[in-house]
Amino acid sequence: MQNLHAAEALRYLRAVTYPAGIDRTSLPTHVALVMDGNGRWAQRRGLKRTDGHAAGEEALFDTVEGALELGLGWMTVYAFSTENWRRPLDEVRFLMNFNERLLLAHRDDLHAKGVRVRFIGRRGGRVPKRVRQRIEETEALTARNRRLTLTFAFNYGARAELVDGVRRIAADVRANALDPDAIDDKTIRRYLYAPDMPDPDVLVRTSGEFRISNYLLWQIAYSELVFTDTLWPDFRREHLYDAVREFQARERRFGAI
Ligand code: IPE
Ligand code: IPE
Ligand code: MG
Repeated sequence: MQNLHAAEALRYLRAVTYPAGIDRTSLPTHVALVMDGNGRWAQRRGLKRTDGHAAGEEALFDTVEGALELGLGWMTVYAFSTENWRRPLDEVRFLMNFNERLLLAHRDDLHAKGVRVRFIGRRGGRVPKRVRQRIEETEALTARNRRLTLTFAFNYGARAELVDGVRRIAADVRANALDPDAIDDKTIRRYLYAPDMPDPDVLVRTSGEFRISNYLLWQIAYSELVFTDTLWPDFRREHLYDAVREFQARERRFGAI
């Protein structure tokens, strides 16, 4: 009886605290974010660009809380692109250490909350071995969680993903493991970094830039695009709720009428 009351109270509490104006029955399954504008946020305050990256930590984890509040199943964040190696060495080095520290600082909490942490991107190349180890440990620790899958696109480029996939397809064709005439959309999906990841329903880019910057090109074929002027370090769960509201106000057609 006691438990029943507790469960009812929890349900009531959830109902009254759920973000207003969001229809729970038509939530996006997957929200992808381009966390952009850290450098400009810092420069406007007379700080170093790297201070902007550091300030993005609170933005990210508040947004994760928002995703959990909403009950989203998948969230993917662009943390480091294959093109970001072109930045000054000290910024690149900062970002590598920063991402490693972020994992160490948050993985137990994420795990306790039922978050499965995963990575898409090239694991080799210039990614320091230490960082790669942290990635693998975090994935292993959280592998069985199912509440929210939080994917970091790290050393990620959509063209690199397609190149890697095409190479594996070619190798399988050569090994007679794949019939070239049978290749279709589904085959290509199987050769992406995360074949089980549903396509993003919404793609959010912060900082007022209107471009994709080599993010999830295959997967966003029919995603709703949401652009906001908010710089990433200022982004909070309320901004995620705004994006979901905007998504719910759109009419998706998928080529039909
Ligand atoms: C996004 O912020 C973070 C990464 C690309 C790692 P930026 O560093 O691109 O910030 P801006 O776009 O220069 O303001
Ligand atoms: C995209 O942002 C990559 C990440 C957010 C990690 P960039 O700031 O690197 O993109 P461009 O250079 O403005 O296109
Ligand atoms: Mg940028």
